[in-house]
Amino acid sequence: MSSVNLQKAKSITINSDKFINAGLLNISALYRKYINEVVIPYGMIVDRIEAQAKQILEEYQGKDIVFLVMLKGAITYANYLMKFIYEISDRIEYKGRISFEYISSSSYSHDKSTGQLKVSKSDDVLEKLKEKNLIIVEDTYDSGFSLNCFIADYLISLGLSSLKTCVLFYKSNKENFKYDLQIDYIGFSLPGDAFIIGFGLDYQEKFRDLKHLCVISDQGLKSLKNE
Ligand code: IMP
Ligand code: MG
Repeated sequence: MSSVNLQKAKSITINSDKFINAGLLNISALYRKYINEVVIPYGMIVDRIEAQAKQILEEYQGKDIVFLVMLKGAITYANYLMKFIYEISDRIEYKGRISFEYISSSSYSHDKSTGQLKVSKSDDVLEKLKEKNLIIVEDTYDSGFSLNCFIADYLISLGLSSLKTCVLFYKSNKENFKYDLQIDYIGFSLPGDAFIIGFGLDYQEKFRDLKHLCVISDQGLKSLKNE
């Protein structure tokens, strides 16, 4: 589960010099004034999720799997993951049973972690995870606080058969890493200093419906704080 000297999972690295001028892509009028740069266009994110789905099914080799989705940020990610997991499992005649469960968690206020994890779940959900092969589906890994707390406080006592972690956006700023945790599947590695929005990720509940993954411009952040 977690250990020292972790081997980082393979991922696509996007450095800030690869960010795309937002004026060259389709950004909804509502959001244009807050955004100068696109970090990853929507189509590339979806393609990468399909590759992750394929990799997971190959590695689990017909075993039962329960995916546990961390709402709300991971909802768009999980929707695509589910679509591809079911499509591919049908095509390859995967033998195991696959299900998706959901839990709501939050630790951010504005663009900063509060250092407190709020979790809302029904006890039924945890019951369903006992003795299962669990894969946690999380949108973003930053300090590792949310995942570490959640695993320690809710999952360790359940007696899982196995536990893996699947993250779409992994922020690679070593200064932010307070917790050492093995992430088994990583979509993209991103600069750690960027606050990202879109593809399900929010700033104070805004921008979840923005298609591409973007960063808020400094000016955009200022005006949002005054709204
Ligand atoms: P951590 O606890 O510091 O690892 O942060 C991970 C959690 O905070 C995830 O559940 C994300 O939803 C949220 N988060 C972290 N960074 C960002 C960001 O740049 N944009 C939006 N949400 C973020
Ligand atoms: Mg979250």
